[in-house]
Amino acid sequence: MRLSAVFVGLAAVLSSVLAQSSTADSYIATESPIAKAGLIANIGPSGAKASGAKAGVVIASPSTTSPDYLYTWVRDSSLVFKAIIDQYTAGADTTTRSLIDAFVTAEGTLQQVTNPSGSVSSGGLGEPKFNIDESAFTGAWGRPQRDGPALRSTAIINYANWLIANGNSSWVTKNLWPIIKLDLDYVSSNWNQTTFDLWEEVSSSSFFTTAVQHRSLREGAALATAIGQTSVVSGYTTQANNLLCFLQSYWNPTSGYITANTGGGRSGKDANTVLTSIHTFDPAAGCDATTFQPCSDKALSNLKVYVDSFRSIYTINSGIASNAAVATGRYPEDSYYNGNPWYLATFAVAEQLYDALITWNQIGSLNVTATSLPFFQQFSSSVTAGTYPSTSTTFTTLTAAIKTFADGFLAINAKYTPSNGGLSEQYSKADGTPTSAVDLTWSYAAALTAFEARAGFTAPSWGAAGLTVPSTCSSGGSGSSGSTVAVTFNVAATTVYGENIYITGSVDALQNWSPSNALLLSSANYPTWSITVNLPASTAIQYKYIRINNGAVTWESDPNMQITTPASGTYTENDTWR
Ligand code: NOJ
Ligand code: NOJ
Repeated sequence: MRLSAVFVGLAAVLSSVLAQSSTADSYIATESPIAKAGLIANIGPSGAKASGAKAGVVIASPSTTSPDYLYTWVRDSSLVFKAIIDQYTAGADTTTRSLIDAFVTAEGTLQQVTNPSGSVSSGGLGEPKFNIDESAFTGAWGRPQRDGPALRSTAIINYANWLIANGNSSWVTKNLWPIIKLDLDYVSSNWNQTTFDLWEEVSSSSFFTTAVQHRSLREGAALATAIGQTSVVSGYTTQANNLLCFLQSYWNPTSGYITANTGGGRSGKDANTVLTSIHTFDPAAGCDATTFQPCSDKALSNLKVYVDSFRSIYTINSGIASNAAVATGRYPEDSYYNGNPWYLATFAVAEQLYDALITWNQIGSLNVTATSLPFFQQFSSSVTAGTYPSTSTTFTTLTAAIKTFADGFLAINAKYTPSNGGLSEQYSKADGTPTSAVDLTWSYAAALTAFEARAGFTAPSWGAAGLTVPSTCSSGGSGSSGSTVAVTFNVAATTVYGENIYITGSVDALQNWSPSNALLLSSANYPTWSITVNLPASTAIQYKYIRINNGAVTWESDPNMQITTPASGTYTENDTWR
């Protein structure tokens, strides 16, 4: 069958499963084949827009100026190929096998390319981007970015699992496992090291990176077991447990959202967290909050806080009801290209909601907790905490409203998709005109996975079901060891408009006395400012709060504050600004 026939077929399948026609339905029908073709066009060597790219190399975008994106990013490529592999292994598109094999070969080659982050054995796997001829990119950049090896191994593991299920274990062991193992060994020994976030700006720890690292080690340990590579299993599992522990620390209980980065001095509201939810969705894990599943109370609360943070900052969102879909971007403080909505961020919101609907329908009930209540109250002001079986009116009402809400995010992207269906990276917050890189491969992949989730498609599960957080966390990784405890700092401090309270101190996790990397506290309970940080257990730690107003830093008076952390559990410190 010709490729184009497959696209038309897929679009027909997607639209026929939907009962009534809507903007979302017609957008999916026209945009699906365009997105699929747009994605294929950006893969070398034969992609129409990828000339010069080696076989299996994914260009981020054909744009060569403002911005120059004619490079291959490990993150973008891996997310794109995960989508292609999921479609291939589900039998939804059988035309892409040779592209998948070329991708695996290309990534195996890139792993061996010595680059500014190091060689294959000295940190080079953390290099975020390469030239499209598979040579190293040597310019200045935010490096390393440690999500790449995790995302790449996840994509290849999913292909490996399908090959094993289809009687090809020996090929997996010989050709895929060596590539997967390099990435997983890197994740296992470096996860606790500082990383640039997925937006290549903040150097700290990052929720998306931690979460995808956790996932990769879980499914890596399972794959290793399946093919008899048992020597790595306990090491990967130990570090996966440590990652799961650390993952919990990003949750901000007072404000009901996930703080995207431990550094960066921002609110921490970020598409990072929504992308995590969809890229670590496990259809067998129910609404588990430990892994922040799409329908978990924490992920839903977070989604509302994230979406709401864009309501008043983009002109194109003005006049939209406070419980209806809006355009969303990377994070509200973003200034890249003036800080605009991103197609892939707005698609991710829709996809998280579709994933949640899939799970509620599958488990036959929907649970509203105190944490998720504000999310659900958007759709029914009278709803209360409780479990609503799928036979109840509340279930029917809420799920119908959430489907409409989700479709609204597709409709927003549809409204700002140009008539040729091309998806750039961003669209103007002022008037919706597409801007920044044209034909962003990741935008096309994000469209396709959101459309598929709406149609009920799920990728294989990865082992998130039934995981429990170990009672003490070890910071694992090379270069540091020992347990950590979650320490909450509350400080009463009155501030003037534009002024914020930060903390910095004597350990890595408190940014080693750096005012520019100091951690922003949340003012959700103003005048009490709060933050929860994982700190080394049984350790005397010195710190100070600082206030920053328009770049001007004011330190608390001397002496330094000091706490000694307990051996395990949690610790709360209540202070008053001095
Ligand atoms: C290029 C990066 O790709 C982008 O994520 C970032 O926002 C800008 N540089 C500005 O730092
Ligand atoms: C900038 C984005 O912030 C980053 O996540 C992405 O990898 C590159 N552009 C390439 O698309």
